[in-house]
Amino acid sequence: MQILDGQLVSKATKDELRIKVAQLVTEGKKVPHLAAVLVGNNGASETYVGAKVKACQEIGFKSTLIRLEDDITENKLLSVIESLNEDLDIDGILVQLPLPKHISDEKVINTILPSKDVDGFHPVNVGKMVQGLDTFVPATPYGIMLLLEHYKINTKGMNAVVIGRSNIVGRPVSILLSQSSNPGNCTVTVTHSHTKNLKELCLNADLIVAAIGIPEFVKADMVKEGAVVIDVGITRVPDASKKSGFALKGDVAYADVAPKCSFITPVPGGVGPMTIAALMKNTFKACELKN
Ligand code: GUN
Repeated sequence: MQILDGQLVSKATKDELRIKVAQLVTEGKKVPHLAAVLVGNNGASETYVGAKVKACQEIGFKSTLIRLEDDITENKLLSVIESLNEDLDIDGILVQLPLPKHISDEKVINTILPSKDVDGFHPVNVGKMVQGLDTFVPATPYGIMLLLEHYKINTKGMNAVVIGRSNIVGRPVSILLSQSSNPGNCTVTVTHSHTKNLKELCLNADLIVAAIGIPEFVKADMVKEGAVVIDVGITRVPDASKKSGFALKGDVAYADVAPKCSFITPVPGGVGPMTIAALMKNTFKACELKN
């Protein structure tokens, strides 16, 4: 069993970007600038956005964090996004999800200029991704593909089971894995809450991507010997022994599942850091295309 070390690969990816940014500075060119919008004070979202801003600082990107109250009106949020669209210095815009219930995710995402949509959530970018065209691929699926690529895992012909069909992870990763690329060329089954024979499907899987958000959902008796397991879950569960008062749990019962795997991602330190690295790659690309 080999651990897919997202921390290590993320660091290597960010190191590559740091060198490229230093080159831009040497040439007197503009450095990438990411604007992150955080609405409200959801603890997990605060952590994720904080990690994104920190990564920008490590690499040498500019970043602007825009904090908004959770009772902000939808129209006001849309006008904040419009001004970021018009700001020539901003290359990438991300609005951290989830948003408060009175705000439509769809309207917000549709308002971001596709050329600045470094999350790859705008329908134009999703459409391009589905067609296999060059675009901004959503960061978590992109990070998973970078991780598989780094460890030279040959996914050609694999039966892949994706657990979860969200627009952020499950659906896009299922598309990427099915494409004629390396990694890719998998036969993909997308499963969800109405799937009847999940255990059977998983037992036939060479690759499992668990993105359901239920701690330790994937048990050892659902995993084939030698499978590759990618754990996207990162749920906060109360844990009095931790200073923070919570522990982070993946969607996979790691201790029991890991011994059966050829490769597995840990939580934390697997997919999470790769999401950040992939977002940074998208931000660099947005700057490169714009300037
Ligand atoms: N919430 C959970 N994952 C993501 C992500 O990748 N991007 C944004 N903007 N919000 C998220």
